Amino acid sequence: MAAGHRVKSVEQSIRETDEPGHSLKKTLSAFDLTVFGVGVTIGTGIFVLTGQQAAVNAGPAVVLSFLLAGITCAFAALCYAELASTVPVAGSAYTFAYATLGEVVAWIIGWDLLLELMLGAAVVARGWSAYLQSLLDLPSWLAGDHARPDIAAIVVVLVLAAVLIRGSKTSSRLTGILVAIKIGVVLLVIVVGLAYVRTANYHPFIPANQPGAAGGAPGSTLSEPIVQAFLGLEPTSFGWFGIVAAASVVFFAYIGFDIVATTAEETISPQRDLPRGILGSLAICTVLYMAVSAVITGMVPYGQLNTAAPLAEAFNKVGVTWASTVISLGAVAGITSVILVLILGQSRVLFAMSRDRLLPSGLARVHPRFGTPWLNIAVIAVAVAALAGFVPLDALSKLVSIGTLFAFVVVCLGVLVLRRTRPDLPRAFRTPGVPVVPVLGVLACGWLMLNLPVETWLRFLVWMAIGLVIYLTYGRRHSRFAERGSSGAVR
Ligand code: ALA
Repeated sequence: MAAGHRVKSVEQSIRETDEPGHSLKKTLSAFDLTVFGVGVTIGTGIFVLTGQQAAVNAGPAVVLSFLLAGITCAFAALCYAELASTVPVAGSAYTFAYATLGEVVAWIIGWDLLLELMLGAAVVARGWSAYLQSLLDLPSWLAGDHARPDIAAIVVVLVLAAVLIRGSKTSSRLTGILVAIKIGVVLLVIVVGLAYVRTANYHPFIPANQPGAAGGAPGSTLSEPIVQAFLGLEPTSFGWFGIVAAASVVFFAYIGFDIVATTAEETISPQRDLPRGILGSLAICTVLYMAVSAVITGMVPYGQLNTAAPLAEAFNKVGVTWASTVISLGAVAGITSVILVLILGQSRVLFAMSRDRLLPSGLARVHPRFGTPWLNIAVIAVAVAALAGFVPLDALSKLVSIGTLFAFVVVCLGVLVLRRTRPDLPRAFRTPGVPVVPVLGVLACGWLMLNLPVETWLRFLVWMAIGLVIYLTYGRRHSRFAERGSSGAVR
C-alpha cells in the first residue's frame, strides 16, 4: 500500500481515535456545538460586509445575497452533517477526504484548511484589534490598523491559545459568554433599528444594473472576478449580477459553522449531536444575517453604508449615538470567540494530520491532564500571532473564502463517493435528496469561487502547489497509512 490509491477505511479512522496518548476528552453536547458554531460564524462579516455590499453591489437586496450564500452553505452543511455523523473523527473535511477520496486529496484539503483556519484567525485578530482600539480609544502603536507590530492582536491570540490548552470545556464556557453578548447586540440592532426603518429606503429594492466595477474602483484584470476575466465581460454592479457578486463576498460571514465538525472526537454523542450543531448554528446565523441586513438598509439609504463600521454608522445617522459603543462592544466580544474557535478548529485538523503522520507525530500528543493537543495549539498560536502581528493581511482575506469553498466542494463530493463505496455504513444523519443536494452544493460553491478575483485564484494555486511539494517530500513517505497499509494494526 506504499503507493497507489490510499483511502483509509471509516472503521480504521474511528479505531485510531482510541490510541493511548492520542485521544481527546469527550465533553461536548449539542448545545456546546451550536454555541461553538454561532461563536465562530458571527464575526467581522455581519459587522462590516453587510453595509458595504449594500452600498456597492446589491442595495437593499443584500438580504437576497445573504439568502443565496446561506442556501449554498445549507447544501454544504447537509453534506457535512452526514459525513460528520458517519466518520466522527477530529479533522473534519480532512478526515472525510481521507475516507472517501484518498490521502492526496486529504492532504490537499488539510493544507487548504490552513487558509480557512489559520489565515482566517489572523485576519479576524486584526479586525478585533481595530474594534478594540476604537472602543477604548487605545494609542495607535498598541492596536488598530497602524500598529506594527499589532500588539493587541498578538496578545489576544496568545491568551486564547492558553485558554484552549486548558481544555475544550473551559473554551466552550468562555465562548458561551461571548456568544451571549454577541447575540444580544445583534438582537438589539434588529429590535432598536426596526423602529427607524422607513419603507422609502427599500425603493428600489434591487437597484438597476450599472456598468463599472463595484464601488467605482478602477478595475485591473487581477482584481476582476475570474469568471469575468475569462469571459471578457464588462464589470457591472447592482441588479441580479450585483446580488450574486455580493453573495460571494458575504459568504465570508458564514464561514465557521463547518468548524463544528472538527470537534467530532470531543462530542459525547457525535452521531446525534454533530448534525444538530452544524445545521442549528447555520440556521441561527442565516436568520440573524437576513434580519440585520433588512433592518440596516431600511434605516438609511443604502448608498450611505460604505464605511468601515456601517452598523454603527446607520445608528449615528438616525441619531441613536449610544448604539455605536454597544455595537463595538458586541464586535469585540463577538470576534474574540471567532478567533478562539478558529484556532480550536485548526488545532484539531493539525492533530488529525499529525496522528496520521503526514506531519510530525509529536504534534498529535495530548496533554495528560487537560486532554488537549497542547503542543500543536502552541505552534498554531505562534504562527497566527506572527501573521496577525506583522503581516499586512488585507489582500489575503479572500483567500480565506476560497479555501473554505474548496473544502465545501470536496465534502459534497465526499458524500457522493461514500454513498457509492460504502452504502452499508450506519449513517445517523443522511443528506436528503442525494445526489441532487451534493451536486447543487458543488455547483453553488464552485460558482461563488468563480466570482472571486483572479489574484485570489493565483495565490490559492501557488499555496496549493507548495502544499503538494511538502506532501511529496514529507507526508507521502512518513504516512502511517503507507507504513502499515489499511490493516489497522498500530505499530
Ligand atoms: N464568519 C466569520 C466572520 O464573519 C469568519 O468573521
